[in-house]
Amino acid sequence: MRGRVSALGVITGVFFTLAAIAIVGLVVAHTGGYNVGATEGHTPFERWVASTTMENSVKARASGIAEPQFTQAMIVKGGGEYKAMCSQCHGAPGVERSEWATGLLPMPPHLTEAASEWRPREVFWILKHGIKMSAMPALGPTHDESTLWAITAFVKQLPGMTAEQYAAIPAEEEGEGGHHGGGKATPMGGASGHHDEEGPAHGH
Ligand code: HEC
Repeated sequence: MRGRVSALGVITGVFFTLAAIAIVGLVVAHTGGYNVGATEGHTPFERWVASTTMENSVKARASGIAEPQFTQAMIVKGGGEYKAMCSQCHGAPGVERSEWATGLLPMPPHLTEAASEWRPREVFWILKHGIKMSAMPALGPTHDESTLWAITAFVKQLPGMTAEQYAAIPAEEEGEGGHHGGGKATPMGGASGHHDEEGPAHGH
């Protein structure tokens, strides 16, 4: 019968195509043909593969995690941690990310916008495990789960938070445990937020 494609023919074709792709991949890896420079950017295809893989991987792995109730105390504690460990890369209300962070690829997203796209358990999973082949660090090895949930609680408040509200959160010094305010050099003066200079004092 004319025009009939045999199953064996299809399988053979697929096999040789995959083999050819694998060989091209090996040759590129071995010869240095691929430019790993962050300044090179990603092609739209690479970007699509990376972001789709990342999103689906996080959603699938976080789906079974039980979320605690968030309290005001968690949000304040998480905000202090955020100032110490996250704003340099992700920015915050009224705070631009550090200049060096704009040279990362992928560039860390502004969480004041991106946080609304993730469920709390997904933010928690990202914090605990980090994201491979990106600058997003895993905090699970160095921080307990209650701290990670506190940061999660804070991150979920970021969309809609004003620069004044963010500035009013006391900064946590990295590496210190759960001290309970007071006794620090300059305790926050409550509601009076009037300084001569508005906004963040540093940041070029
Ligand atoms: C050294 C830079 C860096 C630091 C510090 C950092 N991150 Fe990230 N983060 C990244 C990068 C880069 C991505 C994007 C990864 C990707 O798209 O694959 C990311 C992604 C994320 C995401 C997913 C957002 C999205 O839509 O892609 C969340 C949530 C997040 N980070 C939270 C945090 C929190 C909270 C902290 C502080 C505990 C933190 N990150 C510290 C670089 C950083």
